[in-house]
Amino acid sequence: MTEIRNYHTADEVAQAAAENAVELLQAAIEVNGKATWVLAGGSSPMLAYKKLVKDFSDAIDWSKVTVFIGDERMVPADSKDSNHGTILALFDKSPELSRVRRVMPSTTLTTASSAEDYALKIAAENINEFDLVWLGVGEDGHTLSLFPNNPAFTEVATTWVLPVYNSPKPPSDRISFSLSALEHVDELVIFAVGVSKQAALEEARLKRKLPVAVAADVVESSGGEVRWLYDDAAWNY
Ligand code: 6PG
Repeated sequence: MTEIRNYHTADEVAQAAAENAVELLQAAIEVNGKATWVLAGGSSPMLAYKKLVKDFSDAIDWSKVTVFIGDERMVPADSKDSNHGTILALFDKSPELSRVRRVMPSTTLTTASSAEDYALKIAAENINEFDLVWLGVGEDGHTLSLFPNNPAFTEVATTWVLPVYNSPKPPSDRISFSLSALEHVDELVIFAVGVSKQAALEEARLKRKLPVAVAADVVESSGGEVRWLYDDAAWNY
Protein backbone atom coordinates (compact mmCIF):
# COMPACT_ATOMS: atom_id res chain seq x y z
CA MET A 1 0.00 0.00 0.00
CA THR A 2 1.15 3.52 -0.76
CA GLU A 3 0.04 6.60 1.11
CA ILE A 4 0.90 10.21 0.37
CA ARG A 5 0.62 12.50 3.38
CA ASN A 6 0.76 16.25 2.94
CA TYR A 7 1.93 18.63 5.66
CA HIS A 8 2.48 22.36 5.51
CA THR A 9 6.02 22.54 6.81
CA ALA A 10 9.17 20.47 7.11
CA ASP A 11 8.72 20.74 10.87
CA GLU A 12 5.32 19.04 10.64
CA VAL A 13 6.84 16.32 8.46
CA ALA A 14 9.55 15.76 11.06
CA GLN A 15 6.98 15.56 13.84
CA ALA A 16 4.87 13.06 11.90
CA ALA A 17 7.92 10.93 11.02
CA ALA A 18 9.08 10.87 14.64
CA GLU A 19 5.62 9.90 15.94
CA ASN A 20 5.26 7.24 13.25
CA ALA A 21 8.70 5.77 14.05
CA VAL A 22 7.95 5.50 17.75
CA GLU A 23 4.60 3.85 17.07
CA LEU A 24 6.01 1.34 14.57
CA LEU A 25 9.10 0.45 16.54
CA GLN A 26 7.03 -0.03 19.69
CA ALA A 27 4.59 -2.28 17.82
CA ALA A 28 7.52 -4.40 16.55
CA ILE A 29 8.98 -4.61 20.07
CA GLU A 30 5.63 -5.80 21.39
CA VAL A 31 5.45 -8.56 18.79
CA ASN A 32 9.11 -9.60 18.46
CA GLY A 33 10.81 -8.20 21.56
CA LYS A 34 12.97 -6.04 19.25
CA ALA A 35 12.79 -3.72 16.27
CA THR A 36 14.95 -2.86 13.27
CA TRP A 37 15.26 0.58 11.73
CA VAL A 38 17.29 1.67 8.69
CA LEU A 39 18.29 5.31 9.11
CA ALA A 40 18.45 7.83 6.26
CA GLY A 41 21.42 10.11 5.67
CA GLY A 42 21.37 13.61 4.26
CA SER A 43 19.84 16.69 5.83
CA SER A 44 16.09 16.09 5.33
CA PRO A 45 15.51 13.70 8.26
CA MET A 46 17.75 15.60 10.73
CA LEU A 47 14.87 17.52 12.27
CA ALA A 48 13.02 14.27 12.91
CA TYR A 49 16.07 12.74 14.63
CA LYS A 50 16.32 15.87 16.77
CA LYS A 51 12.66 15.60 17.73
CA LEU A 52 13.14 11.97 18.74
CA VAL A 53 16.06 12.95 20.97
CA LYS A 54 14.21 15.90 22.48
CA ASP A 55 10.66 14.66 22.82
CA PHE A 56 10.61 10.87 22.49
CA SER A 57 13.57 9.66 24.54
CA ASP A 58 11.29 7.98 27.05
CA ALA A 59 8.73 6.79 24.51
CA ILE A 60 10.15 3.32 23.98
CA ASP A 61 12.94 1.06 25.20
CA TRP A 62 15.57 2.14 22.67
CA SER A 63 17.94 -0.66 23.69
CA LYS A 64 15.56 -3.02 21.87
CA VAL A 65 15.98 -1.12 18.59
CA THR A 66 18.76 -2.08 16.17
CA VAL A 67 19.73 0.66 13.75
CA PHE A 68 21.41 0.43 10.35
CA ILE A 69 22.39 3.12 7.86
CA GLY A 70 20.93 2.92 4.37
CA ASP A 71 23.91 4.51 2.69
CA GLU A 72 27.25 5.86 3.76
CA ARG A 73 29.91 8.09 2.34
CA MET A 74 33.49 6.80 2.42
CA VAL A 75 34.66 9.27 5.03
CA PRO A 76 35.75 8.74 8.64
CA ALA A 77 32.89 8.24 11.09
CA ASP A 78 33.84 11.46 12.90
CA SER A 79 33.67 13.52 9.69
CA LYS A 80 30.79 15.98 9.42
CA ASP A 81 29.96 14.22 6.14
CA SER A 82 29.47 10.83 7.75
CA ASN A 83 25.80 9.90 7.72
CA HIS A 84 25.89 7.45 10.60
CA GLY A 85 28.48 9.46 12.53
CA THR A 86 26.27 12.55 12.42
CA ILE A 87 23.07 10.74 13.40
CA LEU A 88 24.58 8.66 16.18
CA ALA A 89 26.34 11.71 17.66
CA LEU A 90 22.87 13.21 17.93
CA PHE A 91 21.41 10.06 19.49
CA ASP A 92 24.29 10.03 21.98
CA LYS A 93 23.02 13.32 23.38
CA SER A 94 20.18 11.35 24.95
CA PRO A 95 21.05 8.67 27.52
CA GLU A 96 18.01 6.71 26.29
CA LEU A 97 18.51 7.03 22.51
CA SER A 98 22.19 6.27 22.93
CA ARG A 99 21.16 2.74 23.94
CA VAL A 100 20.18 1.74 20.39
CA ARG A 101 22.09 -1.27 19.01
CA ARG A 102 24.22 -0.12 16.10
CA VAL A 103 25.07 -2.19 13.04
CA MET A 104 27.24 0.23 11.11
CA PRO A 105 29.70 0.05 8.23
CA SER A 106 33.42 0.45 8.49
CA THR A 107 34.62 3.22 6.19
CA THR A 108 38.32 2.62 6.79
CA LEU A 109 38.30 -0.28 4.30
CA THR A 110 38.26 0.06 0.52
CA THR A 111 34.83 0.91 -0.86
CA ALA A 112 34.33 -2.62 -2.22
CA SER A 113 35.45 -4.26 1.04
CA SER A 114 33.34 -1.92 3.10
CA ALA A 115 30.22 -2.85 1.12
CA GLU A 116 31.02 -6.55 1.41
CA ASP A 117 31.77 -6.26 5.12
CA TYR A 118 28.54 -4.35 5.80
CA ALA A 119 26.51 -6.91 3.86
CA LEU A 120 28.02 -9.63 6.10
CA LYS A 121 27.27 -7.67 9.28
CA ILE A 122 23.66 -7.28 8.18
CA ALA A 123 23.39 -10.94 7.16
CA ALA A 124 24.57 -11.89 10.66
CA GLU A 125 21.46 -10.15 12.02
CA ASN A 126 19.19 -12.66 10.25
CA ILE A 127 16.74 -10.03 9.10
CA ASN A 128 13.52 -11.23 7.51
CA GLU A 129 12.03 -7.77 7.18
CA PHE A 130 13.32 -4.41 8.37
CA ASP A 131 10.51 -2.95 10.47
CA LEU A 132 11.14 0.60 9.34
CA VAL A 133 13.26 2.26 6.65
CA TRP A 134 13.66 6.00 6.26
CA LEU A 135 14.80 7.49 2.95
CA GLY A 136 15.60 10.95 1.64
CA VAL A 137 15.38 12.16 -1.96
CA GLY A 138 17.95 14.07 -4.00
CA GLU A 139 17.29 16.84 -6.53
CA ASP A 140 17.98 14.31 -9.30
CA GLY A 141 15.59 11.75 -7.82
CA HIS A 142 18.27 9.59 -6.22
CA THR A 143 17.68 7.86 -2.96
CA LEU A 144 20.16 6.03 -0.75
CA SER A 145 23.29 6.30 -2.93
CA LEU A 146 21.41 4.94 -5.93
CA PHE A 147 21.83 7.63 -8.57
CA PRO A 148 20.17 7.73 -12.01
CA ASN A 149 22.38 6.02 -14.61
CA ASN A 150 24.91 4.81 -12.03
CA PRO A 151 25.59 1.04 -12.17
CA ALA A 152 24.61 0.64 -8.51
CA PHE A 153 21.10 1.59 -9.63
CA THR A 154 20.98 0.28 -13.20
CA GLU A 155 22.59 -3.14 -12.74
CA VAL A 156 20.75 -5.99 -11.08
CA ALA A 157 22.26 -6.84 -7.71
CA THR A 158 21.51 -9.67 -5.34
CA THR A 159 23.74 -8.48 -2.50
CA TRP A 160 22.12 -6.11 -0.01
CA VAL A 161 24.96 -3.59 0.07
CA LEU A 162 26.77 -2.21 -2.97
CA PRO A 163 29.89 -0.15 -3.53
CA VAL A 164 29.08 3.08 -5.35
CA TYR A 165 31.63 4.96 -7.45
CA ASN A 166 31.41 8.26 -9.31
CA SER A 167 28.55 9.62 -7.25
CA PRO A 168 27.47 12.94 -8.75
CA LYS A 169 26.89 14.16 -5.18
CA PRO A 170 30.21 14.27 -3.34
CA PRO A 171 31.95 12.34 -2.02
CA SER A 172 32.38 10.14 -5.06
CA ASP A 173 32.80 6.85 -3.20
CA ARG A 174 29.96 5.49 -1.12
CA ILE A 175 28.23 2.28 -0.11
CA SER A 176 24.50 1.81 -0.37
CA PHE A 177 21.67 -0.57 0.34
CA SER A 178 20.63 -2.11 -2.97
CA LEU A 179 17.15 -2.45 -4.41
CA SER A 180 17.19 -6.12 -3.42
CA ALA A 181 17.56 -5.16 0.26
CA LEU A 182 14.39 -3.10 -0.19
CA GLU A 183 12.46 -6.29 -0.91
CA HIS A 184 12.63 -6.88 2.86
CA VAL A 185 10.90 -3.85 4.30
CA ASP A 186 7.70 -3.62 6.34
CA GLU A 187 7.38 0.15 6.18
CA LEU A 188 9.19 2.75 4.12
CA VAL A 189 8.95 6.43 4.98
CA ILE A 190 10.19 8.94 2.40
CA PHE A 191 11.04 12.52 3.37
CA ALA A 192 9.74 14.59 0.45
CA VAL A 193 10.61 18.07 1.69
CA GLY A 194 11.91 21.30 0.20
CA VAL A 195 11.30 23.20 -3.01
CA SER A 196 14.53 21.88 -4.54
CA LYS A 197 12.99 18.39 -4.62
CA GLN A 198 9.70 19.45 -6.24
CA ALA A 199 10.60 18.68 -9.87
CA ALA A 200 12.20 15.30 -9.14
CA LEU A 201 9.28 14.27 -6.97
CA GLU A 202 6.76 15.21 -9.62
CA GLU A 203 8.71 13.22 -12.19
CA ALA A 204 8.95 10.31 -9.76
CA ARG A 205 5.17 10.36 -9.28
CA LEU A 206 4.43 10.51 -12.98
CA LYS A 207 7.09 8.38 -14.67
CA ARG A 208 8.25 6.12 -11.83
CA LYS A 209 11.69 5.63 -13.36
CA LEU A 210 13.78 7.67 -10.96
CA PRO A 211 15.57 5.75 -8.20
CA VAL A 212 13.27 7.01 -5.43
CA ALA A 213 10.17 5.85 -7.33
CA VAL A 214 11.74 2.50 -8.19
CA ALA A 215 12.78 2.03 -4.55
CA ALA A 216 9.21 2.73 -3.42
CA ASP A 217 7.83 0.34 -6.03
CA VAL A 218 10.21 -2.43 -4.92
CA VAL A 219 9.04 -2.06 -1.32
CA GLU A 220 5.38 -2.01 -2.27
CA SER A 221 5.54 -4.87 -4.75
CA SER A 222 7.24 -7.05 -2.14
CA GLY A 223 4.43 -6.41 0.34
CA GLY A 224 5.68 -3.38 2.31
CA GLU A 225 3.89 -0.12 3.09
CA VAL A 226 5.16 3.13 1.58
CA ARG A 227 4.47 6.53 3.08
CA TRP A 228 5.56 9.70 1.32
CA LEU A 229 5.69 12.63 3.73
CA TYR A 230 5.47 15.85 1.74
CA ASP A 231 5.73 19.44 2.83
CA ASP A 232 4.04 22.19 0.79
CA ALA A 233 7.34 23.28 -0.74
CA ALA A 234 7.97 19.88 -2.29
CA TRP A 235 4.40 19.28 -3.44
CA ASN A 236 3.77 20.78 -6.87
CA TYR A 237 0.08 21.63 -7.02
C1 6PG B 1 23.40 10.94 1.21
C2 6PG B 1 22.03 10.38 1.25
C3 6PG B 1 21.13 10.76 0.13
C4 6PG B 1 20.22 11.84 0.67
C5 6PG B 1 19.68 12.69 -0.44
C6 6PG B 1 18.91 13.85 0.10
O1 6PG B 1 24.30 10.33 1.77
O2 6PG B 1 23.58 12.01 0.64
O3 6PG B 1 21.72 9.38 2.03
O4 6PG B 1 20.39 9.77 -0.47
O5 6PG B 1 19.16 11.28 1.40
O6 6PG B 1 20.76 13.15 -1.20
O7 6PG B 1 19.79 14.65 0.83
P1 6PG B 1 19.26 15.92 1.59
O8 6PG B 1 18.24 15.42 2.55
O9 6PG B 1 20.49 16.47 2.27
O10 6PG B 1 18.71 16.82 0.56
